[in-house]
Amino acid sequence: MSEPRSFRIGLLGRGTVGGAFAELLPQRAAHIEAITGMRPEITGVLRRSEGDFDQILSDADLVVEVMGGIEPARDYVLRAMRAGKHVVTANKQLLSQHGEELWACAREQGVQLRFEAAVAGVVPVIRVLGESLAGAELDRIHGIVNGTTNYILSEMARTGCSYEDALADAQRLGYAEADPSDDVNGKDAAAKMAIIARLAFDTPVHLDQVVYEGIEQITADDMEYAHELGLGLKLLGSAERVDGGLSVRVHPAFLYGSHPLASVGGPFNAVTIESQAITEITLSGPGAGGPQTASAVLGDVISAMIPPASTPEATQQLEIIQDVESAFYLHMEVADRPGVLAQVAQILGLQGASVKSVVQKGLGEKARLVMVVHPLLESKFYAAVDLIAGLDFMRSRPRAIRVIEEEFSG
Ligand SMILES: NC(=O)c1ccc[n+]([C@@H]2O[C@H](COP(=O)([O-])OP(=O)(O)OC[C@H]3O[C@@H](n4cnc5c(N)ncnc54)[C@H](OP(=O)(O)O)[C@@H]3O)[C@@H](O)[C@H]2O)c1
Repeated sequence: MSEPRSFRIGLLGRGTVGGAFAELLPQRAAHIEAITGMRPEITGVLRRSEGDFDQILSDADLVVEVMGGIEPARDYVLRAMRAGKHVVTANKQLLSQHGEELWACAREQGVQLRFEAAVAGVVPVIRVLGESLAGAELDRIHGIVNGTTNYILSEMARTGCSYEDALADAQRLGYAEADPSDDVNGKDAAAKMAIIARLAFDTPVHLDQVVYEGIEQITADDMEYAHELGLGLKLLGSAERVDGGLSVRVHPAFLYGSHPLASVGGPFNAVTIESQAITEITLSGPGAGGPQTASAVLGDVISAMIPPASTPEATQQLEIIQDVESAFYLHMEVADRPGVLAQVAQILGLQGASVKSVVQKGLGEKARLVMVVHPLLESKFYAAVDLIAGLDFMRSRPRAIRVIEEEFSG
């Protein structure tokens, strides 16, 4: 029998993901050969201290980009595709800022650009949106797409600890980087939601168009009140059709216990996809980690070894809408005196907000008022919050967190 043809892989980056990929590949090589008839091997590695990109490119059939960052990753990915090579990348920042340029290049060159690992790690969201659900018109996607923040919020809810303590714990366990800024401020999740929205709604979405907020302001108090109101807190990404346009956002949000994402705890990721045709599908699993992400990268390599698929040109230009309706939780530290509730309710009422539930706690200087209001345009809600913040009995600026009102049966 003749030797199987070799399939040559150039590996750009051999850190957490690249290192795990280099270990996984030989373990799965026989299986991959059985599926594809070709034997994959790494023929070149680029690190800061090792390798020459041009040489690696000329020796490869496919390039795996797991370096991260925008440049030189963007330049290398473009050069690889222009040289007729398939590319697999895990780089969400690159795709959320230069995706259209890269996908256009892949189409022009007739090569594949695959990126399952860029969103939600090993959870196969990209493949499901681009292939399995390509036949369904989607209405809305909600996602927990950052494991670091989900771990922090889960720990705060479970133990009652502060944000700072939960973050330190996440860093000790390796769930958070030494510099966790892009995780906790929502930017990492925003990049993933831009990519998800692009695929789900067939509209170009740049990271700059995603409205995002992080979890740095969340307190143990918020968690306690939420618990009393039957709510759980998540850093939630949303992409949904609104008034003929598209809203893409990331912010802390309360969920009722029946929501499929409410029970997703620890560093896990999960995405709920909704459409009239399919009702609702939730995918969940590890959102990061070297071996997990490497498994998603290798899945993409195998797909690229089997005949083509590409991200089609965007056929729509839905308007990106930033002011949408939300229900809100509002936490106010107030001086305990008559008429406080009535004045707050009146200001909310003037902006068209109606109160769904109220919890009042404490006396005198420790009094707090926590309420959930029914959905209204966010601009109107925040206009009311600005007025409420100016009332003389307010002891600090009110804190607001969105509440997802959807109920799911069974
Ligand atoms: N870590 C995860 O769990 C995870 C999950 C999903 C997606 N991702 C994505 O996967 C990508 C890689 O992440 P990672 O955690 O593996 O990063 P990492 O551990 O920092 O590794 C990066 C690798 O790329 C190399 N590199 C970086 N810049 C370079 C440059 N300018 N020239 C040559 N080599 C360069 C580094 O070289 P040296 O070895 O010489 O430093 C290192 O080998 C990122 O896009 C990240 O967002 C990561």
